[in-house]
Amino acid sequence: GREVMAEEAVLGYLEKNEEIPDSGIFAEEKGISHDEIVNVVKSLNGFRLVDAQDIKRERWVLTQEGQDYAKYGSPEVIFFSAVPPEGITRQKLQETFPSRLPDTLDAKQKSAIYKIGSQQVMKNKWIEMGKSQVSRTVQHVDDRVKDLLIQIRNGEAVSAEDIDALKRRKLISSQIWKGYSVKKGPKYAPKRKKVATDLTRENLQRGDWKEIEFKEYNFLAKGQPTEVITIGEMLKTSAACVTMAFVMSRLSTGVRRQIQMIFLQMGFEEMPTNNFVESSFWNFDALFQPQQHPARDSHDTFFLKEPSTTRTLPEDYVERVKRVHESGGYGSRGYGYEWKRDEANKNLLRTHTTAVSSRMLYALAQGPFAPKSYYSIDRVFRNEAVDRTHLAEFHQIEGLICDRGLTLGHLIGVLHDFFSRLGMSKLKFKPAYNPYTEPSMEIFSYHEGLQKWVEIGNSGMFRPEMLLPMGLPEDVQVIAWGLSLERRLSIRDLIASSIPVYSSARDVSGEGLSLVFRRWATKKSAGSTKNG
Ligand code: PHE
Repeated sequence: GREVMAEEAVLGYLEKNEEIPDSGIFAEEKGISHDEIVNVVKSLNGFRLVDAQDIKRERWVLTQEGQDYAKYGSPEVIFFSAVPPEGITRQKLQETFPSRLPDTLDAKQKSAIYKIGSQQVMKNKWIEMGKSQVSRTVQHVDDRVKDLLIQIRNGEAVSAEDIDALKRRKLISSQIWKGYSVKKGPKYAPKRKKVATDLTRENLQRGDWKEIEFKEYNFLAKGQPTEVITIGEMLKTSAACVTMAFVMSRLSTGVRRQIQMIFLQMGFEEMPTNNFVESSFWNFDALFQPQQHPARDSHDTFFLKEPSTTRTLPEDYVERVKRVHESGGYGSRGYGYEWKRDEANKNLLRTHTTAVSSRMLYALAQGPFAPKSYYSIDRVFRNEAVDRTHLAEFHQIEGLICDRGLTLGHLIGVLHDFFSRLGMSKLKFKPAYNPYTEPSMEIFSYHEGLQKWVEIGNSGMFRPEMLLPMGLPEDVQVIAWGLSLERRLSIRDLIASSIPVYSSARDVSGEGLSLVFRRWATKKSAGSTKNG
């Protein structure tokens, strides 16, 4: 909305005029904030719709001391007024002087004003200091310093000489104001044609892909340098809280109960997942997910309009999270960007149950450490196009184990244990990436019905950048395993391949996944009626 307005203002103006000589004046005339104009000009300049030249102006602003003088008067005038026309003894002056100053100042500030005042009145030859007697040499003085400071604060022009004097007294300091002068660029058009970055389903349906101008690929962009790591080294990795996430588009009570039973048999405790609304902080920031990560875009995540921001976060922990994002620590370099609190405050519908895991681990870190195994089964939300196999809301199943000395080997072991209880004993792992786990592994299971490997989940070991700011002891390693049926394997595929074996679809969704999974694990030709 506003950005479009600013863009239209700039491009529209250039249609009829040669130049915007000064973006600051332009912004004022249009009643648009200068920041907004600057953003738009930068972007238009990048696409060469306009040609922008930097303008820099030096501006003067009052220092704290300058602001005090503008409010209370200059020390020299205060000093002068403290000396009555008939004169005063030095001692009396020193005694009465502090009472002439506002009570908000402390003794140290008051004595500083006395000292500065006495120096300046001498320099101005307003006062004569005898051995014991202090007397005026003039009967009236104006507070020029105060007047000048007020003029500068109001943006009025002041002579170079006066500026110099105030600068020397450190009552003002310079600030560089930056703006632009803007002309038409080589690709100028009165309206910007937005180049598309994605070919969407809607483009295909409407057929407008034929007219759309697509953004060109940048083949020169450098990729991440790859790091080669052997399994042996991976097994030695120290991070170790195991999380398991497991996603399905529909979850029957039967499925829920069955997964719950498996977790309980494995000694896991359930996490409280009764908050669909979560702050970006717990959903992303606490998980070391950078603020400019694409998942944090409103195209992928549902942000709340009301209430749009969270009210409370644990402040000292927030501070540590900010630091680890910005500059790292704990042996990490961080991401090196400016972390914004506003971004973390934004409320959303949680995009994964790992948000709950981050809260639980933080809570765990607040007490004396005890090993824990947690699980959850609940709904999450993502802003995606809805079709037969994709819903904007779905379920995740997540588990995590937190203990000292866990390794990737433990993770793999737990995954085999968990999945074999679901009838899937043939697993394969592939290195993957999550902002909050390192190493990360996608989990594949061989689907006998489909006769192929299918991705069923995601896993990893939570990063030290996530765990250490929470306050977990350094030797508490947290392995994480995550499983996800997600949408890569749609539940429809899974069910479809098993349905012929069981009497109806109801059986599958009602009875639980074990039937499906058991089918999956047993080698059998399609249409066989033998129960797995
Ligand atoms: N949160 C991840 C997801 O939504 C799953 C995951 C959980 C991955 C824990 C690794 C560890 O897909």
